[in-house]
Amino acid sequence: MLSNLDAIPEYEASTNKELQKENPINVELTLDELREFDGTDSHKPVYVAINGVIYDVTCKRHLYALGKGYHILAGRECARALAKGCLTEDMCSNELNDLNDEEFDTLKDWETYYNRSYPNVGRVVYAHIK
Ligand code: HEM
Repeated sequence: MLSNLDAIPEYEASTNKELQKENPINVELTLDELREFDGTDSHKPVYVAINGVIYDVTCKRHLYALGKGYHILAGRECARALAKGCLTEDMCSNELNDLNDEEFDTLKDWETYYNRSYPNVGRVVYAHIK
């Protein structure tokens, strides 16, 4: 199955190389596995994925933990939610095909913010047809 990232070549997720150097983790998680890192277990890091790139947002656990304002994004792919400015579970996906220019710009701004703020620790892997 193609991800939307493949479908939109001009939209390339960038990463912060400096933060990455300090955190040379390179996890590959399916969307199901990513759900394990949603901030409910205080012993595990908290991850957020944007367009397949996984960020470690553990340093702001207070925003992403269970019961906190941005918990819905934790352990999830949230490119669509960030683009649309909508914090609901059904918006947590990398479905980007119907975004307008403004929403794409919003998404890029969020991506810049996460790249500057958090280490990139890996990528989401999507199921392939065998
Ligand atoms: C009344 C509306 C909103 C207010 C007052 C608000 C307020 C804030 C504040 C104060 C922060 C900074 C928290 C901190 O660093 O301590 C923040 C961060 C954030 N907000 Fe909102 N927000 C609102 C709506 C939204 C919506 C609709 C979204 C959906 C995309 C959103 C997504 C985020 C995200 C992703 C962060 C960054 C968390 C991080 O630093 O990792 N916010 N918001």
